[in-house]
Amino acid sequence: MGDKSKPNDSKGQEQVYQPSDSIVKNAHVADYDTLYKRSIEDREGFWADEAAKLDWYKKWDKVLDASNKPFYKWFTGGKTNIIQNAIDRHLKTWRRNKLAIIWEGEPGDVRTFSYHALNREVSKFANVLKSMGVRKGEIVTIYMPQIPELAIAMLACAKIGAAHSVVYGGFSVEALAERIQDANSRVLVTADGGWRRGKITDLKTIANEAIGRSATIEVCITVKRTGQDVYMENDRDFWYHELMGLPIAGAKCETEQMDAEDMLFILYTSGTTGRPKGVLHTHGGYSVYTATTHRYVFDIKDEDRWWCAADPGWITGHSYIVYAPLINGSTIMMYEGAPNHPYPNRWWQMVEKYGISILYTSPTAIRGLMRFGDQWPQRHDTSSLRLLGSVGEPINPEAWRWYHEIIGEGRCPIMDTWWQTETGGFVITPLPITPLKPGSATLPFFGHEVAVVDDNGKDVQTGEEGKLVLKAPWPGMARTIFGDPERYKEVYWKDYAKQGWYKAGDSARIDEDGYVWIIGRIDDVIKVSGYRLGTAEVESALVSHADVSEAATIALPHELKGNAIYAYAILRTGLQGSPELEDAIKKHVSHELGPIARPESVTFVESLPKTRSGKIMRRVLKARALGVDEGDLSTLEE
Ligand code: WT7
Repeated sequence: MGDKSKPNDSKGQEQVYQPSDSIVKNAHVADYDTLYKRSIEDREGFWADEAAKLDWYKKWDKVLDASNKPFYKWFTGGKTNIIQNAIDRHLKTWRRNKLAIIWEGEPGDVRTFSYHALNREVSKFANVLKSMGVRKGEIVTIYMPQIPELAIAMLACAKIGAAHSVVYGGFSVEALAERIQDANSRVLVTADGGWRRGKITDLKTIANEAIGRSATIEVCITVKRTGQDVYMENDRDFWYHELMGLPIAGAKCETEQMDAEDMLFILYTSGTTGRPKGVLHTHGGYSVYTATTHRYVFDIKDEDRWWCAADPGWITGHSYIVYAPLINGSTIMMYEGAPNHPYPNRWWQMVEKYGISILYTSPTAIRGLMRFGDQWPQRHDTSSLRLLGSVGEPINPEAWRWYHEIIGEGRCPIMDTWWQTETGGFVITPLPITPLKPGSATLPFFGHEVAVVDDNGKDVQTGEEGKLVLKAPWPGMARTIFGDPERYKEVYWKDYAKQGWYKAGDSARIDEDGYVWIIGRIDDVIKVSGYRLGTAEVESALVSHADVSEAATIALPHELKGNAIYAYAILRTGLQGSPELEDAIKKHVSHELGPIARPESVTFVESLPKTRSGKIMRRVLKARALGVDEGDLSTLEE
């Protein structure tokens, strides 16, 4: 019992969980206040110290270049490549023979890679990409299940200075086609399929359809994962394993020396309006920021076995499955499939089998596993766990307590990390030494000044809801939206242009201890199971169905998913709604965007509430659905 963190009731009703002595004694950061103060008073000095912990081909001239706001630059003049730190530097040490990746497929197959072996695979595939004419600056699209080749393909692109655009394997035809087109990708890396809940997904079939809709793809490289029959076109389609067996796929490959500000990847994310945005990150600042946040927040030690159970297709996977853990020389766990397949003990079985010490996942996953009961985790020895993490949406205190008591056995602090695709890494987060309040992401990470303000930028009262802003730049920040710098300015920097603050798009409140409580999105972004979707995207998939002329979508609370999508559709003249049509429309959305975008229900309506300028008033639909006050209707057309 001595080693457990215990709640105390010092703040009236609210439970505060104090870290145990052993956590405090072993933590990288023993005193948050002192280092935080330093990081604010001398931000550039703080980041320069962190950057100096990495290898550089050439040291930077300037830590922060703020001459062209909001297009900040970090470590300008510096030369590096994220691969220099994620792989190359480990090869010169004992870590060469340390496990970099332990991977388990859903059917139970296991593959492991030491840093040496990972380097060999990455170098070989980098040479394959070069042989296909892939050049520095070009964007390769990757559409894969969670198999080692996904990480290998990302790393191989980075190594030769090409950028990657990973499209989540759960997305479907239109989502993929649109992203390929926007990135102008010539090369697509995919797989024949993947395993999910005992079934095979049809990745290559979807990829083929998407290639048909986007004119840019010349080469498609396919990993054989499941072995099902797939259509391969002469001169366009190549098998990964065949290319990797050719003499061109030699194991020697120089890492390309990049400018710190050169593009590492773009990752599409949903916004308020229009098409998804290609959020752009760079080699230098992103390396420093992800490695630093990972090391301090999860207290990374060489003996750790780190498992971020997200998908590499989202920013969580980019930053904290692939890049940060490799830079920190960790052993990474990767798992292909569903958490409850074949039984709800699948995760806990793997925690036991591999001795996982840190598990980082989403509230949706926790709620989903909690539903099956305590007996599943309790069948397993999970005593290797030291720290836990949560990300993607606010965690409800009930799920927090279950995670803490049943999975962490009261021993493991929970790092509830708030951040975004655009921030590159954690922004509001506890450290292992931070007293925790279930449901709060707690305090700003080093270098950050966070505030909750009104529309004029005035701090709202303690405990009141307002808009979350970040007041100062940080090395992991997005540099722009690919191909659309104006939109970057407009979406994130326009509302508080006078002050020069970044608008996060979330509402939040800050309590009397300075703890931040995230409430949710203020724009038309829906978080389904922690995944980010735009109402605009789902609506555009709805109206691409032949029978639908107009559509609106809203998010309503959902017990497992956090939020779920509800759709309203106006049918073409003369058509009648029916349960069959509702089903067909849901299937259509799944086919176009992916199963995560499938609406819970489609309600057929005669008209939609709109403003006089023709904008759909989603909040009116939402208020009606929830049976609450509709608020100010003065702008409603009728
Ligand atoms: C949005 C960003 C960050 C990686 C995964 C999501 C929500 C994220 C938390 C958290 C409450 C959270 C916010 C944010 N969010 N983490 N710990 N507590 N809300 O990245 O897809 O870019 O989504 O996710 O609403 O704005 P993303």
